[in-house]
Amino acid sequence: MIPAAGGGSRMGVARPKQYLPLRGRALLEWSVAPFLDLEWIDGVVVVLARNDTEFGKLPLARHPRLTTIVGGSARADSVLAGLALVAERSIAGAEVRVLVHDAARPCVSWADVERLRDEASDRDGGLLALPVADTLKRAHQGRVAETVDRAQYWRAQTPQLFRLDLLLAALRAAAARKTEVTDEASAMEQAGYAPRLVRGRESNIKVTFPEDLKLAEFWLAQQQYLS
Ligand code: C5P
Repeated sequence: MIPAAGGGSRMGVARPKQYLPLRGRALLEWSVAPFLDLEWIDGVVVVLARNDTEFGKLPLARHPRLTTIVGGSARADSVLAGLALVAERSIAGAEVRVLVHDAARPCVSWADVERLRDEASDRDGGLLALPVADTLKRAHQGRVAETVDRAQYWRAQTPQLFRLDLLLAALRAAAARKTEVTDEASAMEQAGYAPRLVRGRESNIKVTFPEDLKLAEFWLAQQQYLS
């Protein structure tokens, strides 16, 4: 499931970032492609903003394995809308797993998606993530308060993989408590699970600022599935 209902205000352009052109396609098309290509994935749900006018123009919109639904004002609301649709379309009682992937990450490799599937298929689920390479400082009023042990810190990426029933319950509980969750793993953590950190790659960048597009272009040019 791909939440793509954000406005991308940090890009500083009127057009939502998921539709910006990248190597001849929309950014979103790159982000969705590996999931459509992997045959063990039953289907792809793309969550769109209510006022989206762009998705329907993409060739992707007519893909037989893809469904869309309207999202909400926060990322977690969009994810919940997508999950509800997946639940509705699943066979009752089946143990369904769901991958949630940011529309803004166009360079994920299908090999990493498969590793996540293989390494994080238990009850706690997991996510692609990277150990922090830089020395980490805790700040206080613009000065270093302390140097922290970087070995304990990882940067969370997507996709994140969880059991559909457990993730739905965790996100609904977080919504009821009105706690902000910026990724699915944090909702699961709050529900008492310990998601597995599956080592991803530097290339799986999140396009946030305009200069990130150049970097995304570079990484896509390196990748095999282009050839
Ligand atoms: O805003 P941020 O970069 O954290 O968004 C991460 C992902 O969540 C993006 O793919 C964005 O489109 C999506 N999102 C969403 N609904 C929102 C806000 C963000 O689907 N209300």
